[in-house]
Amino acid sequence: MMMTNHYDSDVLIIGSGIAGATAALLLADAGLAVTVVTRSKDPHESNTYYAQGGIIYRGKNDSTAMLTEDVMRAGAGHCNAEAVTILGDEGPELVKSILIEKLNVAFDQDKSGELSLAREGGHAIPRIVHATDATGKAIQIALIRAVGTHPNIQLLAAHTAIDLLTPSHHSLNRLAVYEPLACIGAYLFDQVSDRVVLCTAKKTLLATGGVGQLFLRTTNPAGARGDGIAMANRAGARIINAEFIQFHPTTFYQSRAPHLLISEAVRGEGARLVHADGTPFMQHYAPEWQDLAPRDIVARSIHEEMIKHDVPNVYLDLCSYIPARRIKSHFPNIRRSCLQYGIDISKDLVPVVPAAHYFCGGIWVDTWGRSTIGHLYAAGETACTGVHGANRLASTSLLEGLVWGSRTARHILKHRENPYLVHASDIPPWCDEGSVTADPGLIAQDMSYIRHIMWNYVGLVRNSQRLKRAIRELRSLEVEIEHFYRVTRVNDSLIGLRNMVRNAIIVTFAAWENNQNTGCHFRE
Ligand code: FAD
Ligand code: SIN
Repeated sequence: MMMTNHYDSDVLIIGSGIAGATAALLLADAGLAVTVVTRSKDPHESNTYYAQGGIIYRGKNDSTAMLTEDVMRAGAGHCNAEAVTILGDEGPELVKSILIEKLNVAFDQDKSGELSLAREGGHAIPRIVHATDATGKAIQIALIRAVGTHPNIQLLAAHTAIDLLTPSHHSLNRLAVYEPLACIGAYLFDQVSDRVVLCTAKKTLLATGGVGQLFLRTTNPAGARGDGIAMANRAGARIINAEFIQFHPTTFYQSRAPHLLISEAVRGEGARLVHADGTPFMQHYAPEWQDLAPRDIVARSIHEEMIKHDVPNVYLDLCSYIPARRIKSHFPNIRRSCLQYGIDISKDLVPVVPAAHYFCGGIWVDTWGRSTIGHLYAAGETACTGVHGANRLASTSLLEGLVWGSRTARHILKHRENPYLVHASDIPPWCDEGSVTADPGLIAQDMSYIRHIMWNYVGLVRNSQRLKRAIRELRSLEVEIEHFYRVTRVNDSLIGLRNMVRNAIIVTFAAWENNQNTGCHFRE
């Protein structure tokens, strides 16, 4: 397949969730030419779209110091204090100026017209703003409306980034190998025309989201394959904290149902974790915080109760603790989803289990979103600023995407040039060696194999034996997949599979190397 198309812009942004879209809008408002690409056909599709509980704003008598204390406590002593302070100092103001004032996101209000503030696990006070239980949808619709109509933004949907362009790897000038590692864009797979195109840019921002799809059970949508992390790793960037996979304590459990998230906000409203007979148990594990303890503690407590009582799930009891009217008005989407499977959350106990939810690690970035590769930035779930440490505090993730989307944009605006940018004719056209059409059956089986390995051996509770086995199996699978990738015509699923096995190895190695139990990394 020969490359026949070429895009060029000041900034290439890979990913249209909260981090990528925020950066795009600020850069485009300042007059830069921005290309935003997303692998989804619908640019709304992202983890951002599915966020439920909300985004941190300001509680009554709240302060940066109070928020910082909660973030650091949840992060189990492993947070980057400088990054946490930036989040606390800048975050609430950006919620106001970008989401509320610029984009008019309609967060819920209380009877007096003030923003309604919810509390979630690990927060000392209510400080989270929300749009019922579908906050991400409200935010993402507003962001894409602005991105899609901005004259300085070219939005390419159904384009999957394959690999980053670095002169030292890709320039036809062999002497470029002596230059510092720098990014000048990416190869993109256009799913509609079935071609690989080149996108060059002075600056590139990876905002490709998390890795939940590595695990059999996850709250994340299908696109959460961690493509950006694998791409950055292949190009030589530093990845850190990869062992810290956060498992959300409460996802809906029924054999044929997907793992629908049951927002932590329901426990914020008073719901409790119980056994089938209605007996609560979190008071035995976290006497002070009980059902609102940080997520790692709640998820492991559920795991332990399931083993102790030999049951496949525990339950969330909303109806004994929250008036039915309030359940219906506050959680209409969760209620609708569960009703499809015969459970009315305003009347019934809700069967729940933990599932993979959030990647606390990622591409190392500094406080301005710069990675270890020149002119390559990362923001949002794909990046690791150190804000979340070993375990993320609820509702900090959307805020981190907003803050670092904004900070990368501000940094790029001050440093617009890239001396390593080469002319497109100096970059070889994409050459697809493979002639075989990808067999979807093989891809699906390999993906399922990775998800089972990760769930069973690198899940909520890990041990040396399981990690060793996982490393052996994943390495041999990667050899197989790399061969398959070389002989097969590229497509979106194949790109994802290759990235997934790389990321699975990155996570497993990190879990193997760290034998200290911290936050959401737990070894028996
Ligand atoms: P995403 O929003 O995931 O966007 C990633 C983008 O990258 C997408 O556009 C995707 O198509 C694109 N992409 C990926 N790979 C490629 C590729 N190879 N080529 C091109 N494009 C690519 N956090 C909170 O703070 N509050 C909440 O209430 C909350 N609830 C959540 C509920 C659920 C069910 C889930 C799954 C997560 C929740 N989170 C919540 C976490 C939060 O939603 C995410 O961490 C955050 O939205 C990530 O934003 P992002 O911009 O980094 O990535
Ligand atoms: C939730 O609503 O429980 C998810 C919140 C989050 O992941 O921050």
